[in-house]
Amino acid sequence: MSHFYVTTPIYYVNDAPHVGHAYTTVIADVLARWHRLLGDHTWFLTGTDEHGLKVMRSAKANGLTPLEQADSTSIRFRDAWDQLGISNDDFIRTTEPRHGEAVQKLLQRAYDNGYIYKAAYEGLYSVSDEAYVTQADVDEGRVSGPVEHMSEENWFFKLSEFEQPLLDYYAAHPEAITPTSRLNEAVGLIKQGLSDISITRTSIDWGVPVPWDPDHVFYVWYDALINYATAVGYASDPERFEEWWPSTLHVIGKDILRFHCVYWPAMLLAAGIEDLPRFAVHGWLLIGGEKMSKSKLNSIAPADLVEDFGIDGFRFGILRDAPLGPDSDFSYEGMVTRYNTDLANNLGNLLSRVSTVVGKKCDGVAPAPDPDSPLAPIAAEAVQATVDAWEALAPSVALEATFRLVREANAHLEKNEPWKADPGPDVDRVLGDALEVLRLVALLAGPVIPATADQIWTRIGLDGSPTDCRVPDDAAWGGYPGGATIEKAKPLFPRLVT
Ligand code: MSP
Repeated sequence: MSHFYVTTPIYYVNDAPHVGHAYTTVIADVLARWHRLLGDHTWFLTGTDEHGLKVMRSAKANGLTPLEQADSTSIRFRDAWDQLGISNDDFIRTTEPRHGEAVQKLLQRAYDNGYIYKAAYEGLYSVSDEAYVTQADVDEGRVSGPVEHMSEENWFFKLSEFEQPLLDYYAAHPEAITPTSRLNEAVGLIKQGLSDISITRTSIDWGVPVPWDPDHVFYVWYDALINYATAVGYASDPERFEEWWPSTLHVIGKDILRFHCVYWPAMLLAAGIEDLPRFAVHGWLLIGGEKMSKSKLNSIAPADLVEDFGIDGFRFGILRDAPLGPDSDFSYEGMVTRYNTDLANNLGNLLSRVSTVVGKKCDGVAPAPDPDSPLAPIAAEAVQATVDAWEALAPSVALEATFRLVREANAHLEKNEPWKADPGPDVDRVLGDALEVLRLVALLAGPVIPATADQIWTRIGLDGSPTDCRVPDDAAWGGYPGGATIEKAKPLFPRLVT
């Protein structure tokens, strides 16, 4: 059986969960759910990034210890993901002992392999920012207080040694970063030249201690990246790590591409880990439209939108029009239109129409589909297009393909008008076909709208859940058995008004 290990970035606990975080997490969730449908052995990780200055500072501002700050915000991320139906298998916190052990082990390996050395760090230091800054930072006003020249002994990572190995790796594995524009960006960064980087701090102690020099802690990013290895047993269970690591896919926003696609693979190579992860890099979700323009994206909690759209409506709304890669403008009004068109009108109407007509013309008993239906080849094409799009990490394209099938089924009903015809085999065939489309759509769109898919499944009289099925085997035309009693119930998606 294939393995699929998918991760989100771990989120800083200085900030409450917002729609931008939710976007990344939903993408990782739908990919995990899709791979479970394929029958892959799937592991889905998310979590929180709890060390470093940002967290120390916001704790201080809130009158809390860093750990109290981390405890209270980490829980908010867990709750937010529960509210969105996120199906993660693990939730990691970088303050957990299992993580400290993995950080120390991985960086100790890099040190033992000769890739970490001590040197004086010379540069400008802003005490109020507790950070090394450049003259450009000062000139461009990014520094909040006076700067002084400082020199500190730090541990450095020989990133410069990985310039050529990384270029060779990406040349041989262009599929490692999706989409290609982001691969080109990473390669461009490497070609600009890689300097060694300081990976420890002595000025703070809120971090993982350097095992060979405990006055230092690792700088938060070099601690954070290792979470991905921690969670599949890097320090605790080497066999488990071997099993999962080669199948890793990191879903990230474009803002953290350099750390992930340049520094992280170099760290892995330095520690002797030759299998490098794949990356799906998405663009920025930007807020436009009237209703939300007054608030910044980072002040919109996912729960605010779930209240209006429901969980599935929200998940569908943020994925349907946002191709992975470029920035996407996202507006409340656009989400309402999408919801009404695709969910309330197309999918919702298909189900309620079919239930009503089966009630009237077939005594409520579902007919089976026609094996030679004109919808059969259309469905086969839609299934293939959906499978291909998920494979290409393109959820919006997958949804487009699946919903094309819904539109075709509605058109087929309208052409045949079973509500006008006398009961009989012709009516049965048309209704059976529509029920089969509903079964297929529940299966194919289930990763994005899981609760709806379950409801459709039950309403068309099927046992269990679409998640018990496998794609592509169970997505062949004709799997709907017929014979069940169909009840008319309230609309799946009530129409929304702006
Ligand atoms: N803690 C680091 C990541 C460490 S991973 C080893 C971090 N955390 S963060 O809380 O700032 O989250 C950043 C991620 O949140 C982005 O990479 C992106 O995935 C997501 N987003 C935050 N704002 C976003 C948008 N406006 N649009 C889309 N995604 C956004 O960086």
